[in-house]
Amino acid sequence: MRIAIYNHKGGVGKTTTAINLAYSLTKFNPECKVLFADCDKQQNAARFFCEKAASGISESRYKGISVISVADPAELPVSSEEYDFMLLDMPPALDSRTETLLAAADSVIVPVELGSFAVQGIADVTAAISRSETVFLGALVTRFDRKNSADVEMLDLIRHQLGAKVFDTIIPQSKIICNSINYRMTAAEYMGWLEPAKCFDRLAAEVIRKGTAIC
Ligand SMILES: Nc1ncnc2c1ncn2[C@@H]1O[C@H](COP(=O)(O)OP(=O)(O)OP(=O)(O)O)[C@@H](O)[C@H]1O
Ligand SMILES: [Mg+2]
Repeated sequence: MRIAIYNHKGGVGKTTTAINLAYSLTKFNPECKVLFADCDKQQNAARFFCEKAASGISESRYKGISVISVADPAELPVSSEEYDFMLLDMPPALDSRTETLLAAADSVIVPVELGSFAVQGIADVTAAISRSETVFLGALVTRFDRKNSADVEMLDLIRHQLGAKVFDTIIPQSKIICNSINYRMTAAEYMGWLEPAKCFDRLAAEVIRKGTAIC
């Protein structure tokens, strides 16, 4: 299953989500093989996973996770059957390159940071997705601050508008998540016993469930 993690808005948690999701998917099942396609020229995820930049597919420092840096959509492997999941960490752009990358995915997860432009942002992204045959797997609320009433109201609004197309899992705004990446660790490695880290395991379970339903 090829899943793009995409929102054209920058800094909403695409790369953080993709890295931690890859880790949880392989943690759930030691047999699981994930190909992580870093499609962003920033190469943050490729640097996170691998000691050195390499061309083609290379092993990461995590068992079960391989990495490929994709500058041009043509570099995406045509067949990824040997992998259970291919995760595409998408760049913050809405252009022909991102549309080509989206078209190469089976489904798309849209991380959303709740703010006044969040709803319009989702509409722009779902419009781009609908121009391809890719399935909109759902909006994933990230960086959620439950103490902020504006975030709580916006979550209600988005759930009302999108219904089941909003993931039950919510990724909180958390120093554990932010710091773990700064220490070049997944949230589970950094403080896996705490709630913010556990949410990625719940996300992985939900992705498997939703993904199986569309296959
Ligand atoms: N749930 C979270 N809680 C706290 N900080 C977070 C969370 N998710 C992401 N961050 C921080 O926000 C910043 C942006 O996150 P990230 O790079 O994952 O976003 P992105 O959508 O991939 O950005 P870009 O559009 O530039 O690729 C990073 O510093 C990251 O550590
Ligand atoms: Mg990113």
